[in-house]
Amino acid sequence: MAVFHNGTLNEFPLIYDTNGNVLNASDGGIICADGCYHWYGLALRPLPFGKNGSGGQVSDKGVVMYRSKDMSSWEYEGVILPVGTSNDTYLKPPLRFERPKIIYNRKSERYVLWSHFVACPGDHGFTDGSAEALVASCESVNGEYRVEKIFRPIDRSGYVRDCSLFVDDDQSAYFIYDRHMSEAFNPVLKPFERCLHAVKLTDDYIDETGEWARLDDCDGREAPCMFKRNGMYYLITSGLTGWQYNEAVYYMSTSPDKGWTSMGNPCTGEMKETTFNSQPTQVMDIKGRLYLLCERHNISNFLMCSHILLPLEFDGNGRMTIKYSENVNIET
Ligand code: GAL
Repeated sequence: MAVFHNGTLNEFPLIYDTNGNVLNASDGGIICADGCYHWYGLALRPLPFGKNGSGGQVSDKGVVMYRSKDMSSWEYEGVILPVGTSNDTYLKPPLRFERPKIIYNRKSERYVLWSHFVACPGDHGFTDGSAEALVASCESVNGEYRVEKIFRPIDRSGYVRDCSLFVDDDQSAYFIYDRHMSEAFNPVLKPFERCLHAVKLTDDYIDETGEWARLDDCDGREAPCMFKRNGMYYLITSGLTGWQYNEAVYYMSTSPDKGWTSMGNPCTGEMKETTFNSQPTQVMDIKGRLYLLCERHNISNFLMCSHILLPLEFDGNGRMTIKYSENVNIET
């Protein structure tokens, strides 16, 4: 049994690794492998938000990983997807491997990572390398991942923004991403200018198959977290307000690529309209219980971003609710 400390709604409780350093893994996730939980994410800088690569929202390290047997004591495993050298064509720091997600491929026996790649200086933009999908893979969960591909899925246009991965029971996998179809950041979006898409992956999860779908009901949504429960597919999302917190909305469907229906905000209680001051990161199953991991972005110092973990509750019709609690007991 472990206790995950979320703190009060306005706190940023930090987690320290076994070396006494802050667990610094932004917008990633937790994967179970080799009998351990492995928590990974982008290592950010101890600085406030700043433009043109001057701030804390970018990385000059890469994606890092920590492991734990009990979800409470975290040991640093190192950098699994490093930035390149300063004269590297693609991976020159600072950059963002934003929202990295890792899944295991049973056929190739490799771990596969997809992320939204934001090239140096790591600010969102419309140039090449600032809004593409980056695919990397590794034979072990915590080794150094090899970059396989940097590209824009579907038709090489359509900027890649927030993203995640989903593996179905039959091991088919999808890259779910916010596909941005405009040449500028418009404050008022036209229909489907930014809409979530599901791209079916090849058997080795390294590439797209050519099968994809626009999830029309999930127009203007990001931070996608897809999971399956009792034969139903769920997608938890946030609104498009950058680092500012907003209201989560979830969707249900009988298929990952069509028929999504909005079910409204799953959060209840105080600060339900700001997802308890956080943005969804990943849904994870711990011993048969589903939890939502969210990040409390801290734009005054990105090293102080914290995480909250909340159990998902379901009624007899599969409707979901999420309640806040300062401490959450987890059976590990
Ligand atoms: C959020 C997104 C974060 C980050 C931020 C930058 O909407 O989920 O991952 O990209 O915007 O503005």
